[in-house]
Amino acid sequence: MCGIVGYVGEKQARDVVIEGLRRLEYRGYDSAGIAVIDGGSIASDKKAGKLANLEKAIADDPLPPSTIGLGHTRWATHGAPNDVNAHPHLGQQRRVALVHNGIIENFAALRDELERNGHELLSETDTEIAAHLVEAELDRGGDLTSAMQVVCRRLEGAFTLVAIDAQDPSRVVAARRNSPLVVGIGEGENFLGSDVAAFIEYTREALELGQDQVVTITRDDVQVTDFDGKPAAGKRYHVDWDLSAAEKDGYDWFMRKEIFEQPRAVADALLGRHTEAGLLQLDEVRISDDELRDIDRVIIVACGTSNYAGMVAKYAIEHWTRIPCEVELSHEFRYRDPILTRNTLVVAISQSGETADTLMAIRHARGQKARVLAICNTNGSTIPRESDAVIYTHAGPEIGVASTKGFLTQMIACYLLGLYLAQVRGTKFGDEIASVVRELDKVPAHIQTMLDDSERVYDLAKTLRDAKSVLFLGRHAGFPVALEGALKLKELAYIHAEGFAAGELKHGPIALIEQDLPVFCVVPPRGRDQLHDKMISAIQEIRARGARTIVLAEDGDDTVTPYADVLIPLPQVPTLLQPLVAVIPLQLFACELATAMGHDVDQPRNLAKSVTVE
Ligand code: AGP
Repeated sequence: MCGIVGYVGEKQARDVVIEGLRRLEYRGYDSAGIAVIDGGSIASDKKAGKLANLEKAIADDPLPPSTIGLGHTRWATHGAPNDVNAHPHLGQQRRVALVHNGIIENFAALRDELERNGHELLSETDTEIAAHLVEAELDRGGDLTSAMQVVCRRLEGAFTLVAIDAQDPSRVVAARRNSPLVVGIGEGENFLGSDVAAFIEYTREALELGQDQVVTITRDDVQVTDFDGKPAAGKRYHVDWDLSAAEKDGYDWFMRKEIFEQPRAVADALLGRHTEAGLLQLDEVRISDDELRDIDRVIIVACGTSNYAGMVAKYAIEHWTRIPCEVELSHEFRYRDPILTRNTLVVAISQSGETADTLMAIRHARGQKARVLAICNTNGSTIPRESDAVIYTHAGPEIGVASTKGFLTQMIACYLLGLYLAQVRGTKFGDEIASVVRELDKVPAHIQTMLDDSERVYDLAKTLRDAKSVLFLGRHAGFPVALEGALKLKELAYIHAEGFAAGELKHGPIALIEQDLPVFCVVPPRGRDQLHDKMISAIQEIRARGARTIVLAEDGDDTVTPYADVLIPLPQVPTLLQPLVAVIPLQLFACELATAMGHDVDQPRNLAKSVTVE
């Protein structure tokens, strides 16, 4: 998720673009760049790091005056966050400057084609190939609009593209597919932005664009077409948010926005990682298939919510690959003097990529010659840099301290790793793997179903506002979900909460059950030996002792109805994938209860988004 700004009008483009990027910096902040048109050529600058680095660079070496330009703050997906990979990217002749948000799935084939045609590509990004393709199209004749239409028809994946042509300082042209872009409509000037925060201080008149559309803005006009050049219409609207709300896309908290971004985040985590036939392609794993076949043990190291993602992964990895898989708290790992060999795969899960406990754990593992694979959301951060391989989760920046989309996309990455290991080691047939992949591809829609039913959870939160303690129960892959639900409540509502394996109740914790004590119960799907029925027994036991049971069970499972004070239906998904949908109501519940209590949901007390001290 990156920040994009485009401008054409009467003001200095440099000022409008930099101010717009500042408003969008929360969307991505590992590099920033700007380009303007000056007398038939492109003037541009770009710097790794925060926007302030770019501002200093253009203060030291000013851009020429110009009333047309574009800019970008990056959240890296392909290529490390450095100056070369920063956007904008220029075409071969430096005639076109282009910025991009998203993932171009077929960029490798397009890159080969360009290089065969003599193009010299300077960066590791998928974006640079789009700049070269647009410029090459311009060289064949036509204008920037038609060039953009032609190129968009060749791209696969999710993308927002914004481009300028040095030989045509009248227009900025953009295109979108599965990635955000909105037009700001001014007087004698027009704007483009990843969201309205980019231009809200200049105009509140906006135009929402549809899927597969190209928009051309000049000082006095906005024209929309489809990718074939047929006229199309955007949806005009007035923005009545203030700037703070605009940065949160109208939500009250970044966390709630990120909860509702999860369908898109999960789709992006899956994008480009399997073929139509369901064959896994994890090109960034960078550990050879032979080495993966030699792996005889997997140890997952992580903290907090990321550790719970690892616990979910354990069930899937062991079931699919038959490799023993342990999950360790990073801060405990090296102190137990673990037995590691060259054939141990240590998987470090970290949203930030900077958690000191996890970083120390992988340093210890590498010192013991184990292979290390990072699952991370922050491109170029320390943990992936110090690992042998990485699977990026592509969730986009997660601003809320309480992890939500980071957690879901970590589980997606873990499932992909497990399936990839099964594929390489032959412990699952191709059709079995393809069947799981098909179920994963349905998950964004399942999550959306849960989000569409959020009112039920919000009502529940209001009734539990005075709860002093809440328990969470789960079995099998539902046990880490129970732990995550408890953690969300602790870190947001500051309420005592505890997650248990339901089978553990009778070994002590059932003594906690008393009249009206709220207990969330995550029920496994039916048909999985006795797992489901044993969970029902646990619910009966606590209900008989007065607990208020809030039961999460797959839609249509009417065996739970007699024992549920509140029933939250879950979409029907395979047992191993149920955590992806079961956690959604727990996230919504914690967010809503904390909001009702007047807490700062994005920055809960005593916590930090990345714990960079041991
Ligand atoms: C989760 O909501 C918390 N923010 C915390 O437990 C977090 O998951 C943990 O600190 C690990 O962070 P990381 O994923 O960035 O390594």
